[in-house]
Amino acid sequence: MKPLDLRSDTVTQPTTGMRQAMAHAHVGDDVYGEDPSVTQLERRAAELMGKERALFVPSGTMANLIAVRCHTQPGDAMLAGEGAHVYLYEGGGAAALAGVHSVIVGRGGLFDADELEAALYPSDAHFARPRLVCIENTHNRSGGRVFPQLDQLEIARTCRKLGLRLHLDGARIFNAACAQGTTPQALTLPFDSVSFCLSKGLGAPVGSLLCGSRELIDQAHRVRKMLGGGMRQAGVLAAAGSYALEHHVERLALDHANAAAFADGLARVPAVKAVRQPETNIVVFEVSDARDFVARAHERAIWVNALDSRHVRAVTHLDVDRGDIESGLERLMGISR
Ligand SMILES: Cc1ncc(COP(=O)(O)O)c(C=O)c1O
Repeated sequence: MKPLDLRSDTVTQPTTGMRQAMAHAHVGDDVYGEDPSVTQLERRAAELMGKERALFVPSGTMANLIAVRCHTQPGDAMLAGEGAHVYLYEGGGAAALAGVHSVIVGRGGLFDADELEAALYPSDAHFARPRLVCIENTHNRSGGRVFPQLDQLEIARTCRKLGLRLHLDGARIFNAACAQGTTPQALTLPFDSVSFCLSKGLGAPVGSLLCGSRELIDQAHRVRKMLGGGMRQAGVLAAAGSYALEHHVERLALDHANAAAFADGLARVPAVKAVRQPETNIVVFEVSDARDFVARAHERAIWVNALDSRHVRAVTHLDVDRGDIESGLERLMGISR
């Protein structure tokens, strides 16, 4: 039986069209700035995010780390929502490689301007100097939730008032834009920097972009080199990214519809206690023992991940269609506890 892999939207295979684009890419040494496919992707990314410039980097983790390094000095504080990827899932890079202290804002990942102000310590030599606020949209750990636009605008206003920089971890910004029927640019306007991933819902094998002002990206270029992220004939990878931006954005609505259908079906699986209605492509549901459920699902060739002891996460993507969802649900119906 072919496994239904819902562990993440990072598990996709490059499509035939994408592989052809990669095979035919014009390339050069990008450390010398001579790779036309990388330059083309960076221009397109900057345009899509409404920023002056963009930089192609190997991963979302590196894009976030470079942003943190560029906006802060060692000893500064970075504020982020609960469960944010930038402090929880990036190997402690912000602390180890940027020397930044993380402060958690609010509960559940999303937060508002009042919660941000409440999390700020007084300006006093006892406390790390707050310097950077990070928003994650969509918010992965909370189940792909969309960060409300009004809250982002108010947070941006607070940041300007207090002299704080604002970074968007937009690994899944295209999912957020799709869910809200808008463009990424409409969501990225108030941010000093934006990172987004090509290797998640967009289906490319590798790569993220960091976008921002000309000055920020000049600085980011140096930091990327320092971290070993300068790539040579990277146009082979950039071509996959450009292909994804052209061909795989509109279809995200299918992933969202498949996630909704999966959530509806899960509500009928005896072992499932509660299902959060997905806003995008991530479904989080409650069971009595997440590890046990994951193992039983695996026996039925359904691959999902435990989020914690009681919650399981399933993610829809390019390599999953409605038929896969329906047959997967039939197999899960047999799990009784
Ligand atoms: C919200 C978010 N930010 C950043 C990343 C990091 O991306 P990468 O795996 O390319 O380092 C991820 C990866 O899942 C993510 O979900």
